[in-house]
Amino acid sequence: MDKPKVVLGVSGGIAAYKACELLRRLTESGHDVRVVPTESALHFVGEATWSALSGHPAVTQVWETVHEVPHVRIGQQADLVVVAPATADMLAKAAHGLADDLLTNTLLTARCPVVFAPAMHTEMWENAATQENVATLRRRGAVVLEPAVGRLTGVDTGKGRFPEPGEIFEVCRRVLARGAREPDLAGRHVVISAGGTREPLDPVRYLGNRSSGKQGYALARTAVARGARVTLVAANSELPDPAGVDVVHVGTAVQLREAVIKAAADADAVVMAAAVADFRPARYAEGKIKKRDGEEPEPVALVRNPDVLAELSADRARPGQIVVGFAAETDDVLANGRAKLARKGCDLLVVNEVGERRTFGSEENEAVVLAPDGTETPVPHGPKEALADTVWDLVSPRLA
Ligand code: CTP
Repeated sequence: MDKPKVVLGVSGGIAAYKACELLRRLTESGHDVRVVPTESALHFVGEATWSALSGHPAVTQVWETVHEVPHVRIGQQADLVVVAPATADMLAKAAHGLADDLLTNTLLTARCPVVFAPAMHTEMWENAATQENVATLRRRGAVVLEPAVGRLTGVDTGKGRFPEPGEIFEVCRRVLARGAREPDLAGRHVVISAGGTREPLDPVRYLGNRSSGKQGYALARTAVARGARVTLVAANSELPDPAGVDVVHVGTAVQLREAVIKAAADADAVVMAAAVADFRPARYAEGKIKKRDGEEPEPVALVRNPDVLAELSADRARPGQIVVGFAAETDDVLANGRAKLARKGCDLLVVNEVGERRTFGSEENEAVVLAPDGTETPVPHGPKEALADTVWDLVSPRLA
């Protein structure tokens, strides 16, 4: 079988040196990669490096090997174009269809999925012009990764950092695996909660649960590959932030509620995969609770936490917003799931059976997705990303 053909577009930012690692991962995993740098990219990493690592000449202009019509052929033949790093200038050119070098020509002729991994200073990323260009590209079906937050060039930190090359590689792999299927979440904003909340008793103790966050993170990664802008509200998960996702870290149910409600204001869909504690200690002890000889411990009084899923379902932030819940059940799984779907008022409920050795922390899951019209979509035992894709398969046709 022919190797999948990938075009690695490199525009002129310091993160170009990290794109060498992405190139390596792509070639070592059996992809045929053509690097198309811009003139400015060559200020950071030279032609020799791109050629040696890819095994192809790395050409920037349309005037070389003209008899092969490279400005048309390279784009036409590609299975995937990934522009990494994508500068503010490159995003602007792509959004407006400018074509003044080989990479911008390639973007106009490509019929395959296109992934942009932006990297720039926070001010440039947040500039209204850049944001509008990104929105335009997403609306047209491109996967534009949210930059990571962290150290930028020089001493400053903020949003705009190039995502980890290994993570960008995983995005490419997922997008390629989708083949010719439309990025059905293109132009959509989805909010996902993940992990498990911790309700503090005192400065060192909390009431928590065993959720690892893996299912919610899988939902975030798959939504990115389907073209969505993704906000992940992560409660106490130790997993690394997925590439291309806005991650909001929270601790308690009350903090999770606040972050989810805020992000949901302009969301097309909200998926509540987090295990939110139903109760929290009525009193938080400012100092560590000490044991005292001859005294029994005080009972821990609990109060109810807000039910975020029920609130989101009852009070849709925008008409047609789709709300999805998760239910972990130990007995009478389907009957309890049906009752919970009705009680919470959401559009879909993903029900899975949990127990000592099931689901928590595991890489796999098995579930049934229930809808108010009585339909049941069973998802056989498999990777959490497969269940995540089934959830999006069911959400996407329901979006207005
Ligand atoms: N959930 C929520 N807010 C809470 C508790 C749960 O938003 N305070 C959400 C979870 O994110 C999940 C769904 O509700 O999507 C199901 O949670 P679960 O705890 O199983 O539901 P409960 O209504 O608490 O049912 P049970 O009687 O089993 O505790």
